[in-house]
Amino acid sequence: MQVSFIKFLLIFICLLPICHCLKLGETCSNSSSTNTCDAGLICGSCPANGNTRPRCTRVQPVSPTSKVKGLPFNRYSWLTTHNAFALSGSQSATGSAILAPTNQEDTVTNQLKNGVRGLMLDMYDFNNDIWLCHSAGGKCYNVTAFQPAINVLKEIQAFLEENTSEIVTIFIEDYVKSPQGLTKVFNASGLNKFWFPVTKMPKNGEDWPTVDDMVKQNQRLVVFTSDKTKEASEGIAYNWKYVVENQYGDGGMKAGSCPSRSESPPLNSKTISLVLENYFPDDPNKTEACVDNSASLLSMMQTCYKAAGNRWPNFIAVDFYQRSDGGGAAEAVDEANGHLACGCDRIAYCKANGTFGQCDVPVLSPPPPAQLPPSAPVPASEVPSNHSPTKQTFQLHWLILAILCLISIY
Ligand SMILES: *[C@@H]1O[C@H](CO)[C@@H](O)[C@H](O)[C@H]1NC(C)=O
Ligand SMILES: *[C@@H]1O[C@H](CO)[C@@H](O)[C@H](O)[C@H]1NC(C)=O
Ligand SMILES: *[C@@H]1O[C@H](CO)[C@@H](O)[C@H](O)[C@H]1NC(C)=O
Ligand SMILES: *[C@@H]1O[C@H](CO)[C@@H](O)[C@H](O)[C@H]1NC(C)=O
Ligand SMILES: *[C@@H]1O[C@H](CO)[C@@H](O)[C@H](O)[C@H]1NC(C)=O
Ligand SMILES: *[C@@H]1O[C@H](CO)[C@@H](O)[C@H](O)[C@H]1NC(C)=O
Repeated sequence: MQVSFIKFLLIFICLLPICHCLKLGETCSNSSSTNTCDAGLICGSCPANGNTRPRCTRVQPVSPTSKVKGLPFNRYSWLTTHNAFALSGSQSATGSAILAPTNQEDTVTNQLKNGVRGLMLDMYDFNNDIWLCHSAGGKCYNVTAFQPAINVLKEIQAFLEENTSEIVTIFIEDYVKSPQGLTKVFNASGLNKFWFPVTKMPKNGEDWPTVDDMVKQNQRLVVFTSDKTKEASEGIAYNWKYVVENQYGDGGMKAGSCPSRSESPPLNSKTISLVLENYFPDDPNKTEACVDNSASLLSMMQTCYKAAGNRWPNFIAVDFYQRSDGGGAAEAVDEANGHLACGCDRIAYCKANGTFGQCDVPVLSPPPPAQLPPSAPVPASEVPSNHSPTKQTFQLHWLILAILCLISIY
């Protein structure tokens, strides 16, 4: 019994970290189906920006509450996915093909795993149920209906159940007219036990309760709706009473200007405590997203900071959140968190237990160039990073371990 347990343990240890080894910026292979990059990174390139070398790219922001603990909810920034449910390549649960544009590439479960904490969901009455649709005219059709909302709400429920100190925010673009329709589906998903009540939301620009308080009370689901009537009828917070927002779509992507969304009070309204920055075009564009999610997103964040009365965004909403040409949306969130939580340029620079504005700024070496060398294509077996001495030692280490494992197993 004990021997087989040890064998099992050894097999487990042997298999566990074997392929996750490449660091940020290192050349990776996007041909294999397994991710060869370290945790929190994916293998990506950005041809739209001329950067064709596949390299390990960040997708996960730093968890801000792990760095600076216990601040009010509005002193953090959260990565937010626009149309989190509209996944490329998905088929409608009606069996029909989807004709609607898509905005993301991985499931909500995976988004949450990658540190996404804000989810934009479009909800409709459809087939006697509530569905997630990317539609037009307030009506859902087979070809715009992704799946019943309960499926995705259950994914969120499972995440909150498993991760007892995480907080998730849902922004509903709300076309539901059936009485108590949203309440029923939230009830059925088991999410209502995590509900953060409207009564505890600040109404005059005050700080929100602290994240510690929200965790302690287990009120870790914040929900906003675009339908004003639902606050009175179902206790679901009306978004623009609590959140100011810039214009979404192409109108929000003109460098140097950050107009308010028409439904939103002016961005600089200080009676509203949360700021959301939208940064995605009218027509989602997978190949262009890596460009949008990088330098221009960071620069728009500065523009919107000023437009919002010197306030950094609490939510940064993008399409194809994993795509970037470098740090991407994760970096934007890290910067916002640095400013919000400790007055530093990034959350990573916040000093443990430091005072506001005390920063630990590391000296960085420049990253390797992002272009492929202009020479003939390199055969797959000669990808440069696999030939660096450290990589070879590293792989040798795993080879020895694997051999030891095999010996001990047989
Ligand atoms: C892999 O990366 C190369 C270079 O950026 C690109 O041309 C190719 O389309 C990518 N393949 C996949 C499957 O993503
Ligand atoms: C929509 O899908 C349902 C199956 O869920 C099917 O019964 C119905 O005929 C479809 N409607 C149209 C207009 O294709
Ligand atoms: C969520 O919980 C799972 C299971 O305990 C754990 O593996 C994962 O790291 C947690 N994620 C976060 C963001 O805390
Ligand atoms: C939802 O659940 C709450 C509490 O569990 C209950 O009081 C309420 O009646 C339910 N509402 C609907 C519409 O199911
Ligand atoms: C995406 O953007 C690229 C370059 O800007 C453009 O060539 C392409 O047509 C766009 N694709 C879609 C689907 O709009
Ligand atoms: C920060 O403060 C906490 C609680 O007061 C303490 O447990 C922790 O050790 C401190 N960390 C550092 C690096 O001083």
